[in-house]
Amino acid sequence: MSTPILEARGLTRQFGQVTALDGADFDVHAGEVVALIGDNGAGKSTLVKALSGNLAVDSGEILYEGHPQHIDTPMKASELGIETVYQDLALAPHLDPAQNMFLGRELMRAGLAGKFGFMDNKAMRAEARSSFDKLGATVKSLTAPVGSMSGGQRQAIAIARAVHWASKVVFLDEPTAALGVRQTANVLDTIRRVRDHGVAVIFISHSMPHVMEVADRVQVLRLGKRVATYNVSETSMEQLVGAMTGVKEEVKSA
Ligand SMILES: Nc1ncnc2c1ncn2[C@@H]1O[C@H](COP(=O)(O)OP(=O)(O)O)[C@@H](O)[C@H]1O
Ligand SMILES: [Mg+2]
Repeated sequence: MSTPILEARGLTRQFGQVTALDGADFDVHAGEVVALIGDNGAGKSTLVKALSGNLAVDSGEILYEGHPQHIDTPMKASELGIETVYQDLALAPHLDPAQNMFLGRELMRAGLAGKFGFMDNKAMRAEARSSFDKLGATVKSLTAPVGSMSGGQRQAIAIARAVHWASKVVFLDEPTAALGVRQTANVLDTIRRVRDHGVAVIFISHSMPHVMEVADRVQVLRLGKRVATYNVSETSMEQLVGAMTGVKEEVKSA
C-alpha cells in the first residue's frame, strides 16, 4: 500500500494523573475515510488535537507523507493542507459565518485598496455562500454573528470551513452531534465527495451505522492506544463494539 499521508507512532500525552494517549498509533491515506472510534475518554479528541497542531505530545512521532514532521501550531497544519472541525467548535462567536470562514485568510480587494488592507467582503460572502450550499447547509444569515446561531448552524459552518480549506487531510471530530437527520446525510455526502477528491478524511462518531456507511477503514482507540484496525467491508458492528469495549478479549481469556 502507498505511504500514509499522515501517521502517528507511539504518541503519549498525560494530563496530570490522566494518561490521555498511551502510545497511540494512527495512519490515514490520501483518498480514504478512516473512522476513529472508541469509548468516551479513549483519547480520540486528544489524538486529533495532537495531529492538527493544537496540542503538544510528551513523546512519539508524527509523519507527514512518510517524513517526520512537527505540527506544532494550527497554522503549520493549515500550511500542510490539514484542517479540523474540533469537537469543541472553534468559531469566533462575534464574527459572521463568512468572516469565520476566512478568519486569518481574508481575501483582499484588488489593486491599491487591497494594499491598504481593504478586504473583499463581497467575494468572501459569495465563496462562503457557495460552500454552505455545496454542503446543503441552511445558513440563514451571512451577516449575523455565529454566536447567535443554533448548534446545528455553527456545526455546519465549521464543517464547511474545514472542507473549504483542506487540501490533504480533514479531521471531523463528532461533526454530526448537533445535526438533524437531513443535515447529517449532507455531511456524510460531503465526506464522500471530499474523499473522492483525494483528501484523507478522519471521521469520529459514536454512530456505528454512520461509520459503516461512510468509512473505508476503522481504527479503534481504547485507553489511549489503537487496539484494532479493520476494513469496513470485512467487519461488523458487533466486532467494532467489541473492540471498543474490550469485551472480545475478556471473552477470549475467560
Ligand atoms: N485538557 C485536558 N485536561 C485534562 N484532562 C484532559 C484534557 N483533555 C482530555 N483529557 C482527558 O484525557 C482523556 C481522553 O480524552 P479525549 O481525548 O477527550 O477522549 P475522547 O475524545 O475519546 O472522548 C479523558 O480522560 C479526558 O478527561
Ligand atoms: Mg472527544
